[in-house]
Amino acid sequence: MSTRLILYSGKGGVGKTSLSAATAIRAAALGRRTLVVSTDAAHSLADALDRDIEGVPTPILPRLEAVEIDVNRELASHWGVIHDYLTRFITFRGVEETVAEELAILPGMEELFSLLRVKAFADSRRYDVIVIDCAPTGDTVRMLAVPEVLGFYFDRIFPIQRTVVRTVRPVAKRVTDLPLPSDDVFGAVKALYRQMEAMGPILQDPGRSSIRIVLNPEKMVINESQRLYTYLNLFGFPVDAIVANRVLPEEARSDYFDRWFSIQAGHLQTARSAFEPLPFFQAPLFDREMVGTEMLDEFAERVFGETDPTGVLHREKPMEIRKKGKGYVLSLRLPFAEKDRIQVWTRGDDLVVQVDNQRRHLVLPRTLAGRAVEGAAFDDAWLRVTFGEKEAS
Ligand SMILES: Nc1ncnc2c1ncn2[C@@H]1O[C@H](COP(=O)(O)OP(=O)(O)OP(=O)(O)O)[C@@H](O)[C@H]1O
Ligand SMILES: [Mg+2]
Repeated sequence: MSTRLILYSGKGGVGKTSLSAATAIRAAALGRRTLVVSTDAAHSLADALDRDIEGVPTPILPRLEAVEIDVNRELASHWGVIHDYLTRFITFRGVEETVAEELAILPGMEELFSLLRVKAFADSRRYDVIVIDCAPTGDTVRMLAVPEVLGFYFDRIFPIQRTVVRTVRPVAKRVTDLPLPSDDVFGAVKALYRQMEAMGPILQDPGRSSIRIVLNPEKMVINESQRLYTYLNLFGFPVDAIVANRVLPEEARSDYFDRWFSIQAGHLQTARSAFEPLPFFQAPLFDREMVGTEMLDEFAERVFGETDPTGVLHREKPMEIRKKGKGYVLSLRLPFAEKDRIQVWTRGDDLVVQVDNQRRHLVLPRTLAGRAVEGAAFDDAWLRVTFGEKEAS
């Protein structure tokens, strides 16, 4: 059986780390060999578990290990050579070196490389379950978009450059200082590309990976969670549950908190119906910070009860392709999006879908490539793109 991946994402401070650790503790108690990973550069897993955790999997409880990934090391190992080249290249174009160094790193990249490390842990077959404590929302969305951006870049820039380099390097060396990428750079690009290509389908497979959105019953948090949900769908990542954390428990009822109870009840109602039909779990606000494995275990108990948190809690495909007459309809589920926030166009064999400023380049499957887009419609949370007959080539 392949390793199951469970990711917790959500706005800053909502309880991602606590829930990741709690889920992992429960998974281990249920007999699964479990690893809990923090990909957030600002790690706090060690604080939550109240243990020293290293850059390598550290034993915490029977069947449970935890690791805080050293993002800078991952960045250096995957991107180092490419980064050096890009920095030189950008500097050559007249940009100051310190600025060039910054430019040569895409936002979200550190997290992405941490995920590549997660893939290596999954490939090792040492674990049944890996729970991933993600960085706050914005970084997660950027991280998920990076492979597409990089893929786009690699596909279009590097093959061209490679040809140019082959033909001009011998000459160019004599006439220009323009830094040309060496074979090392191409090698690194290729290796990275291959790993990223393998990672996408794993994260998009609802049987293997699940993303859970953590929120608090507050207006702004719910709004941001809805946006996150739209973007996760846009990129085809399966969300299987929502967890509302810090819900005031009955025992906290008092005159003083009365209003808070009704405010929270309103927000919970809104969130519950907005995310329908996703399973909706509630986690109470504890009377103190949650630190240590015992408290986290109790937390898991209060949130999940009898439910096995390692299971696939909801199955839904965010994308579907169906035959219709002589053509096809590609449907992409984009909950919470509105018509005027969505743009669709084709570019070569790619279908580009943009919601707000998040853009996905969908490489069209062979059945669809080469067909003309006849129309696009958005209703009831589904974007439907109609493709006509295959054009003779
Ligand atoms: N239900 C709860 N009851 C009481 N304290 C909580 C609860 N959930 C989280 N906390 C506490 O709130 C703080 C933040 O929680 P946590 O670190 O899990 O959030 P996070 O989403 O990972 O934050 P960040 O975005 O900074 O990584 C921690 O001190 C944690 O113990
Ligand atoms: Mg955290």
